[in-house]
Order: sequence, then structure tokens, then C-alpha cells
Amino acid sequence: MRVSQPATVVDVHLRAAEAAAALRADVRSGLTASPKTLPPKWFYDDRGSALFEEITRLDEYYPTRCERQILDVHGDDIAAATNADTLVELGSGTSEKTRLLLDALQRRGTLARFVPFDVSERTLRDAAEAIRVEYPGIAVHAVVGDFERHLGALPRGGRRCIAFLGGTVGNLLPDQRARFLAAIATGLGPADSFLLGVDLVKDVDRLERAYDDRAGVTAAFNRNVLHVINRELGADFEPDRFDHVARFDPDAEWIEMRLRATMPMTVRIAEVGLEVAFATGEELRTEVSAKFRRAGLTDELTAAGLELRGWWTDPAGDFAVSLSGPAGRP
Ligand code: AVJ
Repeated sequence: MRVSQPATVVDVHLRAAEAAAALRADVRSGLTASPKTLPPKWFYDDRGSALFEEITRLDEYYPTRCERQILDVHGDDIAAATNADTLVELGSGTSEKTRLLLDALQRRGTLARFVPFDVSERTLRDAAEAIRVEYPGIAVHAVVGDFERHLGALPRGGRRCIAFLGGTVGNLLPDQRARFLAAIATGLGPADSFLLGVDLVKDVDRLERAYDDRAGVTAAFNRNVLHVINRELGADFEPDRFDHVARFDPDAEWIEMRLRATMPMTVRIAEVGLEVAFATGEELRTEVSAKFRRAGLTDELTAAGLELRGWWTDPAGDFAVSLSGPAGRP
């Protein structure tokens, strides 16, 4: 018997050529700046994504496990608080965590549509297809885009819960984060909500260990950005000549990952026509991962036009999932 099923729709707002141009621009500006920086989004080619998956299974890396536990224990409360018929998931769509939310919304009986949003068209098509098979009867509308640029392209209507999990919001710098939250607020209808996972401030040793594991997986993940630049832009970085550094900055309350040159080097980046010199000990910042407190996040949400409506943590208080909505609704 064939049961009629809604087809999967895929909207593409970001093409490979555009992503390549963005990488060139980021490399040119970041590696000519002082101190040198690169945005963390370029970690995630196939190898980088696989290394990140491996990080999430490390003993030292608690955030993924904590967030999963929160969604597992409080999924029904979250579903009730959102009453959503549409789950929009920014920057993922493959994970077990998505299913915990979909299951909770299905138990509530409101789930009608899933909207995965990701930069990688391949990842997205695979995720969309898997969900379509596992959740027959719900519509899947996938959107390929960059969450800093294409939020306006999300399908509207119904009661949407826009989920941004994993603590990825912490990888945005403060000004980027303020712009991102404001763009979320602008796009929310009165019945919509925003579910945001954030890692919380805690003991410095535990934080630094989470980003500098004994097996060296995070170090390999960090160096992977140099492999990406070698492959995509014809550069000649020697990644093994950089040490992995992860430090908590107590003023900014964020982890900074850096790559530290172990000897003087000149790197050629053919496709941007750039030669970059590194002195011994010079550091290239590759990621910040901000850690939050409830009061600070509430202020940031308020400044963006959002009001906090729910807050769930794991029993140890290591990680939080917040729910907010457009400010001013009764
Ligand atoms: C992608 C935000 C979940 O910042 O914790 C993991 C990326 N970097 N280890 C984080 C990451 C180093 C991660 N998130």
C-alpha cells in the first residue's frame, strides 16, 4: 500500500561558489589582521564535522551530553511551552537531539512540519530524507543558508519553534551575537518561540579540559581549519607546526582556541595571492566559545527584543536550554 506523503522541499540560498568567496574574504581579512584570526565556521568540512562528532563523545566534553539530558527530561515541558506545529532547527538536523524535540511535539499532537536549516546542502538533504522516513506525515522543508545572513528566508506561518542548540551561539562574537538575536526577534511571529542552548560559566579547569582533551581530538579539530585552507585555497600551511591552545578568558567569559606557531614560518595562500609570516609563538585565534549566566543571557535577549519564558538545566547546572519569545506578548 502506498500512503501519500508530503514531499521534501529544499530551498537553496547559499551555493558552493558563494561559500568559497566567503572563505577567501575571511582568510584575507583574518590573516592580515593583528592578532590573526579565523572564523570558526570553516572547521566544518567532512573531516571537521567527523572530528566534532568525536569530540561530543569525549569524557571531557560535557555540553552535548548535558543538553541531550535536558531535552530528554524536559522535552514535554518544552513542547507544552511552545505548542509548536513547526520545528525549525538552525545548523544541524541530523542529531538525536532533533528527534527528542520532534518526539515531544508529536506526543503533544501538534507537530506538522520540520524545517532543518544548514550551510551544507549534502548534510541537509541527508537529514531531511532521514526525518521524512522516520516521521511519515510531517512536511519537511529544508533551507540551505547561513544563519547570519538568511534567517529572513525561513518559511513562515503556524506556530514555529526555532531551535538553535549545542551552544553554537557562543561561537559568535558579541556584536555578531547581538545582530543574530535581533534578526531572530525580527522574524518571530506572535505565536513563535526561540529555543536556545547555551553552555554555562563553571570551573575553569573543567572548561579548559573540555577544549583540550587528552586524546588530542580537539587539537586535530582545531588544526583542521588549516587543512581546509590548504585544500580550498591552495595554501601550504604545515598544521603539525602549530600547537593547539585552549584558554578561558575570565573577563570575556569565553574559551578561546588558538593555533600557536612553533617556529618562524611563511605561508603562501595561492588563491588569495597572500604570503603570511608567523613568528615563533605567534597565535592565530580560531574560535571563541562564550559561556553564559542566566542574568547575562536574559539581558542580551531583552536587548534584542526577546523575553525569557523558560529555562531548563541539567542537575549539575552545566548547560542550559532557554525559551524566549517576542517581547510584549501577554
Ligand atoms: C559547535 C559550539 C558546539 O564551542 O563547544 C567543540 C565547537 N569547539 N570543541 C563549542 C567546539 C571545540 C562547539 N560548538
